[in-house]
Amino acid sequence: MSGHGDPIPMTSRKSGPLRGTAVIPGDKSVSHRSFILGALSVGETKITGLLEGQDVLDTGKAMAAFGAEITRTGDQAWSVHGVGVGGFAEPDDVIDCGNAGTGVRLIMGAMATTPINATFTGDASLRSRPMGRITEPLSLFGAQAVGRQNGFLPLTMVGAKNPVPVRYTSPHASAQIKSAVLLAGLNTPGETVLIEKEATRDHSERMLRGFGAQIETVKTDEGYEITLQGQPELKAQTIAVPRDPSSAAFPVCAALIVEGSEVLLPNIGLNPTRAGLLDTLVEMGADIAFENRREEGGEPVADLRVKASSLTGIEVPPARAPSMIDEYPVLSVVAAFAKGKTVMRGIAELRVKECDRIDAMARGLEAMGVTVEEGPDYMIVHGMEGEVPGGGTAKTFLDHRIAMSFLCLGLASAKPAHVDDGGAIATSFPIFEDLMNGLGAAISRD
Ligand code: S3P
Repeated sequence: MSGHGDPIPMTSRKSGPLRGTAVIPGDKSVSHRSFILGALSVGETKITGLLEGQDVLDTGKAMAAFGAEITRTGDQAWSVHGVGVGGFAEPDDVIDCGNAGTGVRLIMGAMATTPINATFTGDASLRSRPMGRITEPLSLFGAQAVGRQNGFLPLTMVGAKNPVPVRYTSPHASAQIKSAVLLAGLNTPGETVLIEKEATRDHSERMLRGFGAQIETVKTDEGYEITLQGQPELKAQTIAVPRDPSSAAFPVCAALIVEGSEVLLPNIGLNPTRAGLLDTLVEMGADIAFENRREEGGEPVADLRVKASSLTGIEVPPARAPSMIDEYPVLSVVAAFAKGKTVMRGIAELRVKECDRIDAMARGLEAMGVTVEEGPDYMIVHGMEGEVPGGGTAKTFLDHRIAMSFLCLGLASAKPAHVDDGGAIATSFPIFEDLMNGLGAAISRD
């Protein structure tokens, strides 16, 4: 699991129609933030619907190491007794964030303006991901970081003793950079300002507001300017975590490509900064109905009814990339079954995810008999109108979404699809195999 256990080779085979209701686990981004903001607030935060995946559990453990009291009170139900803004204690051991880029980057931000030191590490995937994009803005507050060369983990952060407020323009479309800066701004006097050129997921802003922080987003010529007033007293909240649209993407896409399928997915989070895949699929001709649109816990949700569809490749607008950044791997699988080419541009960020996702998808699709063109920031998949050969083995590089994407492909390809290691699936979607097989999929461990 997430690089700590033996590889788990898995196979998926051509399946009959997928039918039934898919109850998707809680949103990973919202779950991480619930633990972190709960730990930084005063009082007891009660969380329901938390994603109990390894990534989030590692963040929970980290928050306990910084002094919060974290208790599991029931199935997906957790309680956090926070220490308040500025109240983090120095951990007495290394913080291991496992596979979680979001976990480590947000926690570094959250502790960077408290006068304590902490050393962070992770699995082989996390230890090869860039941290300079976080430590650089945090150094402007007065924090110091020493890691391996190129800023790789393990890394020690020395929190700023007298943090100064920062005005920072993010060089990447990244909610992790934005969130790390805003969390660092919490224990800093004055106003911290983060500017992003394109809107990325806004769960941190929504949740900070919910906990009582003063935070405002204004659209300017430069992009989106987010201003946070430092040193608020955050008040404990009750949080119902919406279901993860990035996990829902797998049964949604599988249902689209497996003939005769019809699947209902209740309560899926439809935050506009996350919903780009659904817009793209609808443009490709997907039959997706959005039923009972409503708002829950400050986030828009709906029940999705998805039917198998004949799809046509499109050019995905690059401006849409931030709102579907985690969904390109599974989109490229759907694209293989569509008619014509699907062109995905402006996706350089995929190269620094849990693995280089452009490379992993291109090599894996080729192993399954699909033609792919790729460049530094683009990928073009040549659709085969439903006739994908399969029969290959995709390397997954400790990346949950690569593993799940190819397991979806094998449900509709002529020959089975193999993945070399499905262990990382437990980081974000521990019930993936049972949920898919419950709908009628044929996914097994070799
Ligand atoms: C996330 C932000 C995105 C996304 C990741 C979750 C978050 O990363 O890929 O899975 O919860 O803030 P980037 O900020 O690197 O784009």
